[in-house]
Amino acid sequence: MKPRHEVVTASRIRGDHKVDLTDLQSIRTLFEQLGKVDAIVSTAGNVHFGPLLEMTPEQHHVGLSDKLMGQVNLTLEGAKHLNPGGSVTLVAGTLSKDPIRFGASASLVNSAIEGFVRAAAIEFPPGIRINVVSPTVLRESMDTYGAYFRGSEGVLAKRVALAFSKSVEGAQTGQVYFVE
Ligand SMILES: NC(=O)c1ccc[n+]([C@@H]2O[C@H](COP(=O)([O-])OP(=O)(O)OC[C@H]3O[C@@H](n4cnc5c(N)ncnc54)[C@H](OP(=O)(O)O)[C@@H]3O)[C@@H](O)[C@H]2O)c1
Repeated sequence: MKPRHEVVTASRIRGDHKVDLTDLQSIRTLFEQLGKVDAIVSTAGNVHFGPLLEMTPEQHHVGLSDKLMGQVNLTLEGAKHLNPGGSVTLVAGTLSKDPIRFGASASLVNSAIEGFVRAAAIEFPPGIRINVVSPTVLRESMDTYGAYFRGSEGVLAKRVALAFSKSVEGAQTGQVYFVE
């Protein structure tokens, strides 16, 4: 999308701007710095992977506070700073419907994000859109996650990027774009 849009990145360490999605004030400060934008795209969110029956509340809290509420807060703050015709695009993952061993917390969080997006779409102001991209494991991440995803060949990041492009540059809202 870079040739067609001015892309401004933000993250805790590496982005053009600094933001920590687990910190609401940090999200507010980011938008005060940025002003109005045409589209908000999130590709962040940490979740704990491990055996379900050994998972502690603190470990569940990682996904709930970071990937889920981080993106919910980004959406709610960001919606106040969108230009007319603007959009929000979040990230979830196919573990919402295709679970794996050790991935229960990710399944929980990804399903919640997808449900949130479907619901938010019907309450967003007219012309403001929201979608979520839900990929299976990326081919580029196979060295790290491949052992969890036996039977999956993974998808290339460039295919996942097309789903983000479709969300930002298309006209649909309330959609979950599965990339498998
Ligand atoms: N990789 C896969 O195969 C795959 C498949 C399906 C879904 N997903 C989902 O896609 C998302 C990204 O996955 P990834 O593998 O690309 O992760 P990653 O390599 O760890 O990248 C995460 C990015 O988000 C930023 N970030 C992390 N926590 C943040 C926070 N609290 N606030 C602001 N920025 C934050 C990081 O930058 P800083 O360190 O600078 O903050 C980094 O640029 C995750 O939600 C993951 O569940 C990944």
